[in-house]
Amino acid sequence: MPERQPDERRDGPRGVRIAPSILSADFARLGEDIDRVSPEADVLHVDVMDGHFVPNLTIGPPVVGWIRRHTDLYLDCHLMMDNPREYLEAFKKAGADGCTVHVEIGGTEALIARMRELGLDVGLALNPETPLESCLPYLDQVDLLLVMSVHPGFGGQSFMAEVLPKIERARRLADEGGLGFELEVDGGIDTSTAPVVVRAGARLLVAGSAIFGREDPVAAAGALRRAGEAAISQGKGAE
Ligand code: DX5
Ligand code: ZN
Repeated sequence: MPERQPDERRDGPRGVRIAPSILSADFARLGEDIDRVSPEADVLHVDVMDGHFVPNLTIGPPVVGWIRRHTDLYLDCHLMMDNPREYLEAFKKAGADGCTVHVEIGGTEALIARMRELGLDVGLALNPETPLESCLPYLDQVDLLLVMSVHPGFGGQSFMAEVLPKIERARRLADEGGLGFELEVDGGIDTSTAPVVVRAGARLLVAGSAIFGREDPVAAAGALRRAGEAAISQGKGAE
C-alpha cells in the first residue's frame, strides 16, 4: 500500500487542524471573538441552520460576507439546511471557501456538481445515526467528510462515542483507497475527546463551547491541538 503523502493544505504542518465553531461565539462582538482565536484557528467553522433540517436558526450569506471582510481565515460553512442548492451561489459570493452539505437531504450528486461549478470546496456531512454507506458513492469526489458526533442543531452537547467506528472506517477507506478527503469531526470535542477522535483518524476538529466557552479561547484552541497531536505521537511510539 503506497504511503499517503501529507498534504500541507489538508493536514497542515502540525497534523491536527482546529476549526473553532462561531456558534458558541458572542454574535454581538463576533469580529473580536474571531480575532481572539485566529492565532490557533486553521479554519473558521460557520454553522448555518435553517429551522427545518435542524430545530434552530442561525445565520446566512450576509453574515458570512461580513465575516469575510473581517478575516482571511478559511471559511468552512456547515449547511444544516433542507435546500442548500438555492443558497450555494450566495455563500460563494459572500466569500465561503467551502460548503458542507448533509447526505440525509439527498440529491448529493447534483449538489457536489453545483459546488464544483461554483468553485467551492466540497464537504459532505452525516449525522450520528446515518451509516457511512450513504456516503460511499461520493468519497472520491469530496474534499471533506464531516462526521457529526452530536445530533446537529446546538452547541454544548456531549460527544457520542458510538460514532468512533464510523470515523475509523472512513479513515481506513481514505488510506486504503488513496482518497484525499479531510476527515472532520463536529460535536462535543474537548481536550478529553480530541485524542480519542484523532486516534480514530480524524484530523480536523470542530469545537465551539470548548473554545469560545472558555475564559481564554486561544489557549483553549491550542490545548485542543496539543491534545490531538499527543495522540498522534503516542500512536507513532506504539508502532
Ligand atoms: C452543532 C454544530 C457544531 C457546534 C459544535 O450542530 O454543527 O458545529 O458548534 O458545538 P460544540 O463544540 O459545543 O459541541
Ligand atoms: Zn458544525
